[in-house]
Amino acid sequence: MDKLIVHGGATLRGSINISGSKNASLPILAATLLTGEPCIIRRVPDVSDTNYMIQILSALGADVERSSGTVRITCEEISDVAPYDLVRRMRASICVMGPLLARKGRAVVSLPGGCVIGDRPVDLHLRGLEALGAKVEVEGGNILLTAKNGLRGAEIDLRGTHGPTVLGTDNVMMAATLADGITIIESAAAEPEVLDLANFLNAMGAKISGAGTRRIVVEGVSELHGVEHTVIPDRIEAGTFMAAAAIAGDGVRLNRVSREHLKAITSAIEESGHRVEFNEAGDSCVIHRGDQTRGVDLVTAPYPGYPTDMQAQMTALLATTPGISVIKDTIFPQRFMHCAELKRMGADIKVDAGTAVVRGVAGLSAAPVMASDLRASAALVLAALKAKGSTEISRLYHIDRGYEHIDEKLLMLGANVERVKD
Ligand code: EPU
Repeated sequence: MDKLIVHGGATLRGSINISGSKNASLPILAATLLTGEPCIIRRVPDVSDTNYMIQILSALGADVERSSGTVRITCEEISDVAPYDLVRRMRASICVMGPLLARKGRAVVSLPGGCVIGDRPVDLHLRGLEALGAKVEVEGGNILLTAKNGLRGAEIDLRGTHGPTVLGTDNVMMAATLADGITIIESAAAEPEVLDLANFLNAMGAKISGAGTRRIVVEGVSELHGVEHTVIPDRIEAGTFMAAAAIAGDGVRLNRVSREHLKAITSAIEESGHRVEFNEAGDSCVIHRGDQTRGVDLVTAPYPGYPTDMQAQMTALLATTPGISVIKDTIFPQRFMHCAELKRMGADIKVDAGTAVVRGVAGLSAAPVMASDLRASAALVLAALKAKGSTEISRLYHIDRGYEHIDEKLLMLGANVERVKD
């Protein structure tokens, strides 16, 4: 198991390219199951989650070639049973369910287990697929979906108690592309990753409108074909490096970003007293660290609100920002594991009922800390950049799930980091 040692105190300078989005790549890779023709997908980040998805597709019978960010997949003859030992490693594997059901009329996918960031049920996915005519059974830890006479369009409201569901919207949208008739998804997730998937499906021949809004309409077609697609930039990786630059940077530039997708994150960083300057095209930005910084109040919300996936990293920034910050996670109220570790580094944080109250301290000091999930580990790396001394972050595999070569990118910016084997 790898560890990351961060020697705090270096100033970050220079520029890096942001990778393709992990959370757009995962459903797009799964969507290739909808056609027997070859699909070519570019800018797929080399992270363990995309590797798991490729392994699942290969186990289902897909022919996959991958080289430097480009993945070529042909799903000519596929099975309808997703293997448990692969599915259990990544919750997002649930998004093979919709495409398998649509293509094969049957899908067997393991029920995802618990997750450190919260309960994460799949009831909304199943409710949506059921509305399209699938029979849903749970047997021996597996979800068995059958649609002997094919799927048919329906009106579905996907709103849950915590708002819309991203992968649930993806699953229903993918299944509806090959259903008979028109499907209307109300209370759909409007995240840019959902829109990227819809663009990919439309290029394959699907008829989807309204993606990126709360109401998506899908007119079923009889078949889809192979396409080439370039994945959108990863807004969470970009946000993470924006926070790193605000903590320890001096004019860091991030290339291959989308200003539009980064609005809520940019506002939060600017509200805390830093400045983010985009070029005219909005695809590159420079983060100017402010001298007069202040605490902010943040509430996570579905897009275009402030993303839960940037909650931990912002908490790390606010831990050393003067004043009091109040951070509420409405989407995953239990997602505060990073706070206990940040406190071990000297942060003053109180967590209660899905809300963290952070009193900015003058500085943090190094301590051995443990990564608990992807974004929590990113928060620890950010905190360590300015902490006094050398912080050892263990269980680095969490960060490798979703950040492409994070240690190399940090080294390029001048951080003093080392990846070591345990
Ligand atoms: N929910 C239900 N029932 C469901 C599905 C979701 O109650 O059937 C609840 C969840 O428990 C949560 C809320 O609805 O409270 C939103 O969850 P959502 O379904 O949108 O999450 P997801 O689609 O499983 C994706 C991202 C997550 C990100 C969330 C929220 C991918 C692969 N994952 O998960 O990303 O936090 O949306 O934006 O796209 C990450 O990258 O670190 C990550 C965890």
